[in-house]
Amino acid sequence: MEIILNLLSQIPWWGWVFIFLAIVAIWDILQRKHTILHNFPIVGHFRYWLESIGPELRQYLVANNREELPFNRIERGWVYASSKKENNYEGFGTDRDIFQHQHIFVCNAMMPYQLKPDHPNIKDYSFIPCAKVIGAYNKRRKPYRPGSIINVSAMSYGSLSAKAIESMNIGVKIAGAYHNTGEGGLSPYHKNGGDIVFHFGTGYFGVRDEHGNFSMEKLKKLVEDYPFIKAIEIKLSQGAKPGKGGVLPAAKISHEISEIRGVPMGKDVLSPPGHSAFSNVPEMLEFIEKIAEETGLPVGIKAAIGKLEQWEELAALMVASNRGPDFITIDGGEGGTGAAPPSFADHVSLPWVYGFSDIYKLFQKRGLEERIVFIGSGKLGFPAKAAMAFAMGVDCINVAREAMMSIGCIQAQVCHTNHCPSGVATQNKWLQNGIDVNLKSIRMAQYFKTFRKEFLEITHAAGYEHPCQFDMDDIEVNVDDHNLSEDLDKTYNYKKTPVAFTSMQDLKDCIYLGGKQTNPKST
Ligand SMILES: Cc1cc2nc3c(=O)[nH]c(=O)nc-3n(C[C@H](O)[C@H](O)[C@H](O)COP(=O)(O)O)c2cc1C
Repeated sequence: MEIILNLLSQIPWWGWVFIFLAIVAIWDILQRKHTILHNFPIVGHFRYWLESIGPELRQYLVANNREELPFNRIERGWVYASSKKENNYEGFGTDRDIFQHQHIFVCNAMMPYQLKPDHPNIKDYSFIPCAKVIGAYNKRRKPYRPGSIINVSAMSYGSLSAKAIESMNIGVKIAGAYHNTGEGGLSPYHKNGGDIVFHFGTGYFGVRDEHGNFSMEKLKKLVEDYPFIKAIEIKLSQGAKPGKGGVLPAAKISHEISEIRGVPMGKDVLSPPGHSAFSNVPEMLEFIEKIAEETGLPVGIKAAIGKLEQWEELAALMVASNRGPDFITIDGGEGGTGAAPPSFADHVSLPWVYGFSDIYKLFQKRGLEERIVFIGSGKLGFPAKAAMAFAMGVDCINVAREAMMSIGCIQAQVCHTNHCPSGVATQNKWLQNGIDVNLKSIRMAQYFKTFRKEFLEITHAAGYEHPCQFDMDDIEVNVDDHNLSEDLDKTYNYKKTPVAFTSMQDLKDCIYLGGKQTNPKST
């Protein structure tokens, strides 16, 4: 033993390095899992290591400002600077190729809209409530006018961390917007005073019985217990994975999640692709009406668009019965998700502009467009994109990933791994402890306020008081040179119906105006 120890102590440091490398090389050659390591022992490891840090290398060093997807550096930088109230301007002029296909041009007026001294926007330049009241046409008992045209899109507690949800909820309260719960039920982190749109999908989390079916009793109780719930959204599909069910693995079901979602512990929970509460369009309409009747709240549906036959059926039924959803949220195929197979995220469902234009036209053809509040989501959290969406007919936009970025998401694109480095999309306590809720909620609110301020400036530049006044011929989409570039109405083949807007002051005085919530956790 002593001889061996003596021998070992005589080996110089480089000898140890050599022995270590020899062991790694032998292990590489003997293992059968990775061909590259077997064929190129030791050096093969560099390939795997470089591949693993490739996204970071490209993001920090290689990609140019406009190159990355889903959001390029300029877009991310704009959200970060806006949320911190830093200088978000660009110097020297645009670095975009403005002749690129699909480039958006907002047509400015010869002279901008001018605010009179008593105009509500003189006091608050970021005040832009929704021009329509959700649930007004169908005479719901509790109609709702969103206090902000930009709001937080569906993202559940579970896909996002508790601290992220809390930051967003306090953020919407400060910004006078609403917070959509996503599919995970109403968590304690949603109860910080912001308006809530309660959202559920096929798993009916938070409103399900012991067999996983929808429970009207639970929904009614939830709405009664929490008056800050202003509307209900039934998810039919989302852009990143339409028609795809999901599994909540038993390992991820903590005691808290089991309580919030109403699911048992120790068992995998399935969200099937389709709803069990209805299986065709007439049944869906009945379901919507029943919920609205029982809760008094406006009820809407969220979907990504592909085939139109069932939408035609819905529109026909709405005409025939004079009933229907109070709002429709159209999500684009470019939308985000906590986790989805790439084949779904990349290919299933249409991009927002195609899907929305199809749906708007379809309802407009039957004279239904004024009955419905249209909400758009799919990378619309930038003022010029929002101007295009309003010109096409939306009344509000929902933002998901832009809101995540405003509270620190760095687009690491690892939401599905539980390793989100910024603590936003993970349940890892250590990682989410990096989030300072006070600071991040102010940042999210500031992003919303800056967004609305810039959007209002663009609106005024186009000669309007409110973004709902944008029309299809206010926006051009580049298809080649100017003679070939087309107004939106020619590109998408419809003209938007003017929204019945009187004045910003009237919106401010509306009794249904939201975003004024002050009730604390217990209400
Ligand atoms: C982390 C994450 C979780 C999401 N969870 C849901 C969900 O529970 N239900 C849903 O309908 N959409 C969900 N979405 C989709 C968003 O609500 C939104 O429709 C989509 O990301 C497009 O908006 P964006 O481009 O602003 O991100 C999720 C998106 C993300 C990024």
